[in-house]
Amino acid sequence: MQAAQQQINLSDPEANPKTAERKRQFIDIYNTKITRDGAANLLMWLESDTDFFTAPASTRFHLSEEGGLCQHSLNVYRRLNASAKALPDCSEETLAIVSLLHDVCKTNFYTVEERNAKDASGKWVKVPYYAVEDKFPLGHGEKSLFLIHSFIALTHDEALAIRHHMGGFGASPGDYSIGNAFTMSRLALELHIADMRATHVDEKEQ
Ligand SMILES: [Fe+2]
Ligand SMILES: [Fe+2]
Repeated sequence: MQAAQQQINLSDPEANPKTAERKRQFIDIYNTKITRDGAANLLMWLESDTDFFTAPASTRFHLSEEGGLCQHSLNVYRRLNASAKALPDCSEETLAIVSLLHDVCKTNFYTVEERNAKDASGKWVKVPYYAVEDKFPLGHGEKSLFLIHSFIALTHDEALAIRHHMGGFGASPGDYSIGNAFTMSRLALELHIADMRATHVDEKEQ
């Protein structure tokens, strides 16, 4: 594989205009739609104590780039809002909370490692890449649920959606809780579909 010249930054969103713009869009929607008690502290935590705005969405599967996690969250927000007609009982705040925050489990989760690769001239160089170092291995939806609920109170519907947004991926055989959650909560089903559409349609093109 030929090495691409790249920098990987997990600390300063303002160092890259694209990352800064993604952060601006996220905060604009967040502050407009989410007014629940604790929301300001949650946002302050994301900005000050996590790499949410610079982290990738994955190590190599989708939006494996600086700011990818923030962009993915925006993509899921837009996809879920496109399904809002199916969710007449859900407020705009609920749609924003579950979509923008469903993957906060991926904050402080990635590190930057180096591997050897050849550059365009055939010379061996060190190339940075994303790796996983889970500092709080609580699960995926489970961790997002715990972190969000540490700051803001969630409804049962929102909790089901965040916990089960991955659908059957990683589920144990014989675990019927996902199907039960999707039967009880249309929001949970629609968030899972929005997550899949963002990952497998939108992010193939970005
Ligand atoms: Fe996820
Ligand atoms: Fe996601």
